[in-house]
Parts: sequence; C-alpha cells; structure tokens
Amino acid sequence: MAENHATATDKPVPYSTGDSNITETTIAEMRELAARYPEGRSALLPMLHLVQSVEGRVTPEGIEACADVLGLTGAEVSAVATFYTMYKRRPVGDYHVGVCTNTLCAVMGGDLIFDRLKQHLDVGNDETTEDGKITLEHLECNAACDYAPVMMVNWEFFDDMTPESATQLVDDLREGTEVKSPRGATICTWREAERVLAGFPDGRADEGPTGGKATLAGLRLARERNWTAPGGRGGSRAPIDSVPGPRPEDQPGRESGTGSPATPDSRKED
Ligand code: FES
Repeated sequence: MAENHATATDKPVPYSTGDSNITETTIAEMRELAARYPEGRSALLPMLHLVQSVEGRVTPEGIEACADVLGLTGAEVSAVATFYTMYKRRPVGDYHVGVCTNTLCAVMGGDLIFDRLKQHLDVGNDETTEDGKITLEHLECNAACDYAPVMMVNWEFFDDMTPESATQLVDDLREGTEVKSPRGATICTWREAERVLAGFPDGRADEGPTGGKATLAGLRLARERNWTAPGGRGGSRAPIDSVPGPRPEDQPGRESGTGSPATPDSRKED
C-alpha cells in the first residue's frame, strides 16, 4: 500500500495554515514531478493528485504550493482544479465510491444502485457518510459499458453490480474487510490511491487480471474464426494471433471481488 511520505522531522511550509498537511517533503515531491516533464507546468495534474493525497482534497494551500513550484498564478491552478471532476474541493472520505449513471449503466440498474446507496448510506451525491468512510458520487461513462452497471472504488472497477452487491460492497469497506476489484488491485484508501495517481507507484499495478472475459470476447471470436486485422494502405493483413494482448483462454476466471456478483458466464458473447 502507498504510504504517507511525510516524516516526523518534516517541517510545515509557509502554505500551511494550521490544518494543512503540506510539508517540505510535499514540496520536494512536487519539484520531482515537475522535473519529469520538459515543461514543468505539465506536472500540474499529478501535483494536484499529490495535494489530494496529503490534504484529502484540493485546498487553497495546495493550490498556492502548486502555483509557487510551477511559477503559475493561483487563479491558473484553480482553473485547472475546478475543471476536472477528479479534483475535489470538499474533503473525501476514506473511500470514494462512484456509481455510473450514464445511459447504458443507468438502464441496466445504475440509477437503482445509486438510489439504494443514497438511502443505505444516508448521503446525497458528492456527500460523505458521518463516519468519514464513504464519499458517494454518481459518475458518467467509465468506458466499461460491457460490464454495466459498473461502480468504482477509488477508480478501481466493480462490474455487473446490483443494489444488493453494492450495499454489501460499501458495508465491507466501512467494516474494514479486505475488498478486491474484480479487474484490479486490492482496495486501498482514497488518499493512497491519489498518491499512485500522482505518479508514485505502490508496486501493485499488476494485481488482478489484465482483462475480463466480456472485453476479450471479440478477440476470442476473431481467433476462433481466423479473422485478420485490416492492413494499412498497401500493407498486408496481420494474422489475428499477432495482435498483442492476453489470450482470452489464458485469462483466469474473473475474481469475485467482495461485493461483486461476477457473473460473466451468464453473458451472451456470440
Ligand atoms: S455507461 Fe457506465 S461504463 Fe459506460
């Protein structure tokens, strides 16, 4: 799991106003991120994730720190932080739980799941439970429509959800039961996940299957029927076996993450 990299001797910096967790280590890591790009300002997005990993949201102090490190104005940093929905101005709980309510997920049960969770957790959209554990938010298409309705916890997928499996999932998270994404890693806290998104890997990127059965169905059919991929202008047609990626038959069965019904075998693929 990712760690909070602040140390006992870490000093607060001028951006700290009492409640802020931004320290010299945070500033050093911001500079490290900026140095990864030819233009330092390209690091603003990961830097904002780093702010969220230490502050639990994008705070005014975090905005000021990013602006100082990158030579931008606070207004410029704020403009970016308020444009993207992954940056939160209000504190997020230990786990960010998203329910896709875009068209396909909505008709497959996403709206029902979201309503059930609002009732079960006694929160509205973008609100956090009283115990500070869960922040609930409805999300738009997560590019996982083949597993509709989908949910995400700290941006890890949970597929083929139902109101029942969704309530079990949030109950498990609140109780501290280990939860695994059926197509990703064991769930850590939102702040730990934000540190990974900032560009400080926790070494768990390869946890879980790399692809699910529904996603790989087309590739399986193409291989079975010896279809070829179209070549470029004047080019040859590549045999489908040369297409990179995991072979569907080599994929282990999708793991049943806690709270996920994982019923891929019931899907029609042909
Ligand atoms: S509509 Fe939900 S993932 Fe696409």
